[in-house]
Amino acid sequence: MGAVEIPAGLRELLQGYTVEVLRRRPTNLVEFAVQHFTKILEGQKKDQKAKKRSAKPARKGVTFEGKSNKEEEEEEEEEDTVSDKYNRRVSVCAEAYNPDEDEDDDTEPRVVHPKTDVQRRRLQDACKDILLFKTLEPEQFSEVLDGMFEVLVKPQEHIIDQGDDGDNFYVIEKGVYDIFVEKDGANVCVGKYDNKGSFGELALMYNTPRAATIVATQEGALWGLDRATFHRLIVKNNAKKRRIYEAFIECVPLLKSLELSERMRIVDVLGARAFKDGERLITQGDEADCFYIVESGEVKIMIKSKTKAGQQDNTEVEVARCSRGQYFGELALVTNKPRAASVYAVGETKCLVIDIQAFERLLGPCMDIMKRNISQYEDQLVALFGSSVDLKH
Ligand code: CMP
Ligand code: CMP
Repeated sequence: MGAVEIPAGLRELLQGYTVEVLRRRPTNLVEFAVQHFTKILEGQKKDQKAKKRSAKPARKGVTFEGKSNKEEEEEEEEEDTVSDKYNRRVSVCAEAYNPDEDEDDDTEPRVVHPKTDVQRRRLQDACKDILLFKTLEPEQFSEVLDGMFEVLVKPQEHIIDQGDDGDNFYVIEKGVYDIFVEKDGANVCVGKYDNKGSFGELALMYNTPRAATIVATQEGALWGLDRATFHRLIVKNNAKKRRIYEAFIECVPLLKSLELSERMRIVDVLGARAFKDGERLITQGDEADCFYIVESGEVKIMIKSKTKAGQQDNTEVEVARCSRGQYFGELALVTNKPRAASVYAVGETKCLVIDIQAFERLLGPCMDIMKRNISQYEDQLVALFGSSVDLKH
């Protein structure tokens, strides 16, 4: 038998994989291999695309890849699918586009949309609680604000259509927006944004088609951020976030059952918030819009006590504490009820925060664990107040 010829590049490919395994010590070698080689493949495709596009005029300002590139990109992109109640997005590769490897981003012209003082104040107000902006440096945040432009919308206007290419990311200033996801050929309303929040980040982060349709139900105002600026500032920051939070997120017991790529998707959309000693993070009875994981410090959970007749009085009783790696604020999101307790920081405390839409999309697989813990809360409350409590219904 003649000598077996080793294909060109094989040795380098395998060496590269081995080095990454030794450097990052993944728990699942096969899953890591899929991600590692998909990233290389994506890089190759991007190079080919860049070569093809170098013959076309360069993108300028707020104009992006036109529909003419759609077919070409559809062939090249992995389609996400939507399954189960919590719309767990199953994707072959959740590896965010790696901006550290993209030199184009730094040569992209900086987009500035001039604003009046009043507009800038309104914009700052709309952006102050946007989780994706919470880990930006002040300079980057200011660039984001410069790049945003006002979009006024009419009732029934489709801001985003599922399946389209992603052009902009949107922050809500005002208005109510329904979220529709196609399931078995029908458009199902899976939630809404009510005068706050943001949407349209997924297609820009993962270079996938739009995963939902967003329709304005009334007149509203949005602030858009173009794809190129979103890449240059937010996606680049996400690469940093992954480096900072990867190890911590891997140690959060609740998230252990998720795959690495699913945990990284959580990191991509989370925000970090710091609280002072005694500060209230959650108020019992309020409507809920996010979920928390303690990164450092501690929080105490307080419930308004009940009189013998079962009436609520205003004295609060401490029922539990959560420290690093533990979560809270899931109950109201799971049950669709108001917050069941108030939560206060004990000392300086930092939490990672995930909004309700991302919670429903990404934490579906952890639902069983959360439901089991809710039963423990019920036991705690029985021990405290005597009568039986049903928190789930
Ligand atoms: P994107 O895919 O770019 O466009 C549609 C947006 O809808 C998506 O980003 C998310 O920001 C938002 N969205 C809200 N809920 C969902 C959901 N259940 N599934 C997918 N996208 C959602
Ligand atoms: P949520 O109701 O969204 O906001 C308050 C949170 O306190 C609640 O979710 C739980 O995460 C947490 N919690 C911890 N212990 C209890 C308890 N015994 N009863 C209710 N909530 C509790």
